Amino acid sequence: MKIRDAKVGDIEAIHGLISEYAEQDRMLFRSISDMYEDVRSFVVAEMEGKIVGCCALKVIWGDLGEIQSLAVAKEYFGKGLGRALVQGCMERARELGLEKLFTLTLEPAFFEKNGFVKVDRGTLPMKVWSDCARCPKQDQCDEVAMIRIL
Ligand SMILES: CC(C)(COP(=O)(O)OP(=O)(O)OC[C@H]1O[C@@H](n2cnc3c(N)ncnc32)[C@H](O)[C@@H]1OP(=O)(O)O)[C@@H](O)C(=O)NCCC(=O)NCCS
Repeated sequence: MKIRDAKVGDIEAIHGLISEYAEQDRMLFRSISDMYEDVRSFVVAEMEGKIVGCCALKVIWGDLGEIQSLAVAKEYFGKGLGRALVQGCMERARELGLEKLFTLTLEPAFFEKNGFVKVDRGTLPMKVWSDCARCPKQDQCDEVAMIRIL
């Protein structure tokens, strides 16, 4: 298994992974055009030439970044891919000079195992909420805000 930066040729596979969970209401949909524009933010897990996981790092402002769009193909759950993808994004974050990462998640127990702690979402800066304005769940958001100091 290899964790590497995403390439444009991976986008269809990443889109397929995210869409499957988004249809189950387990994560947010992302359009394919948004993903092409954002390809530099993604790391992927590749197994025998197949994309089996993805995760994105978004720079928010100052020293703050966000972990987004984490997904592992269900046949590969529990094999350490989710952790390896988050660590791949953390390495990139450190290289960029970020000092804090947050995530908004429906899987807080997974992120706790990866060193994130729950925070009051009100402590996150306003700029974080620009994506929420486009989210269909904006008035009944069930995601938990979590942060990790790098
Ligand atoms: C959440 C997800 C990324 C985890 O990926 P994974 O590859 O199975 O996770 P890992 O094997 O790296 O697990 C790392 C640790 O977290 C634990 N863990 C994994 N999923 C967990 C969960 N849902 N709840 C609690 N702990 C979990 C593992 O047991 C492991 O613990 P250990 O170190 O004590 O052995 C995966 O279940 C997934 O893609 N889910 C669907 C999409 C999704 O919910 N994405 C999150 C965005 S909100």
